[in-house]
Amino acid sequence: MIAQTTQVIYLISTAFFILSLKWMSHPHTARRGVFAGIAAMGAAIAGTLLHPGIESFTWIMVAFVLGSIIGVPLSWVPLTAVPQRTALSHAFGGLAAGLVGIAEYFLWYQEGELSSFRVGALVAEVILGFVTFTGSLMAAGKLQEILPARPIIYRNQNLLNLSLFAIAIVVGIILIASPEKWYLFPIMVGLSLLFGVLLILPIGGADMPTVISLLNSYAGLSAVAMGFVLENKLLITAGALDGSSGLILSIIMCRAMNRSFTNVLFGAFGQVQAKGAVAEQRAVKSATAEDGAQILEAANLVVIVPGYGMAVAQAQHRVHDLYEQLTKRGIDVRFAIHPVAGRMPGHMNVLLAEAEIPYEKLVEMDSINPDFPQVDVALVIGANDVVNPAARHDKASPIYGMPILDVDRAKTVLAIKRSMNPGFAGIENELYYSDNTLMLFGDAKNVVGDLVKHLSGEASMH
Ligand code: TAP
Repeated sequence: MIAQTTQVIYLISTAFFILSLKWMSHPHTARRGVFAGIAAMGAAIAGTLLHPGIESFTWIMVAFVLGSIIGVPLSWVPLTAVPQRTALSHAFGGLAAGLVGIAEYFLWYQEGELSSFRVGALVAEVILGFVTFTGSLMAAGKLQEILPARPIIYRNQNLLNLSLFAIAIVVGIILIASPEKWYLFPIMVGLSLLFGVLLILPIGGADMPTVISLLNSYAGLSAVAMGFVLENKLLITAGALDGSSGLILSIIMCRAMNRSFTNVLFGAFGQVQAKGAVAEQRAVKSATAEDGAQILEAANLVVIVPGYGMAVAQAQHRVHDLYEQLTKRGIDVRFAIHPVAGRMPGHMNVLLAEAEIPYEKLVEMDSINPDFPQVDVALVIGANDVVNPAARHDKASPIYGMPILDVDRAKTVLAIKRSMNPGFAGIENELYYSDNTLMLFGDAKNVVGDLVKHLSGEASMH
């Protein structure tokens, strides 16, 4: 009876996981999607705790307390650190799958119940789990800059990595054929851990969010294999959802940056960046916030282009005030959203939603690009690579081919940033030197705040 209750709860949990993903795909329903995800996970845990196979709850409670002690503070990180926080969660997921795999192998080994099918599932679980574990830790370390973010390259690197992976697979295949060769199991674990580290070494910072999403899909696949090992249908479906959504997200990110998977995994993006990062000594035109406010006031159509700098400065609430000041004057204000602006998918959408910018004012790149020639002012707030025209025409540029927002085609461009420093790709942006561009130097929060003061008349009162 209890076993049946668990299965029913698992079924409900599966339905909530699927609904969660569906709802999370639109900002209007995203909040509901998060709650559905929490409900699904809650049901999964409750169903598992009811499992008749549990003989003692002591270790479960220990794990629960330890997990909470680590997990709760992890949820307090700022939004800009979410990619590395996510990587850490994947690392824990991979570690859990790997450890369960080790425990099950030796348990079945002792009981003489190792079949080739079981070992096949265990091999997949353990390899994917431990590669995800060390790979995700490396990715988190690089993003947090505990480890050097640039790619680390040496001769025959890809050959070595692929050979290592191939050896791990061969060891796994031998184990499937002869499950009793237990001494091969730790070798396979060691090779997987090492492969996870070496896989991430040549990958540069800019590609890291894509890699994290790819590791997410490995963790999902590892959970699928674990589902086969533990004969747990919920793990199989939830793992498959995780695996496929991670893969789809990686593909979307690769497309938005015009990078292929092989490029991301073997291309050493950061190496190329260095070559492009030669600073040019050309003149730029800068203006004051007062000039900026006057230009904005005279416009009919303003497109605001947010980027990573807006996130760093936490300027979104000031941007909302600016939006109000402009719309009050009857100016049409829209927001142009590049799919990889910021450091994670949906980064700009989340910040603008937090600042209560109406969602229908957010326009995706492909829809807004044809409108730029009619735009009076494109206000670029802390965006750089995603508005770099070199991506359209400079074949030598490392970001050549990446789709960009065509802000340079607007009548006037106002660009807010603190200095002439490059963005994530480490390259010059010719947009800043163009005749129709005026730079508003300063921290995005301060500059947008000053624009608002001038527009509201507050500045002249002081
Ligand atoms: P970036 O090209 O990284 O440029 C951000 C700009 O913001 C910098 O030039 C910086 O210039 C400025 N900035 C930083 N702090 C600021 C502050 N407090 N106030 C004002 N400006 C500030 O950003 P982007 O245009 O959003 O492009 C995103 C980049 O990340 C792309 O290269 C993309 O490929 C990469 N990436 C994104 C993702 C996802 S999913 N979003 C995934 C992988 C890679 P100053 O230092 O001069 O101020």
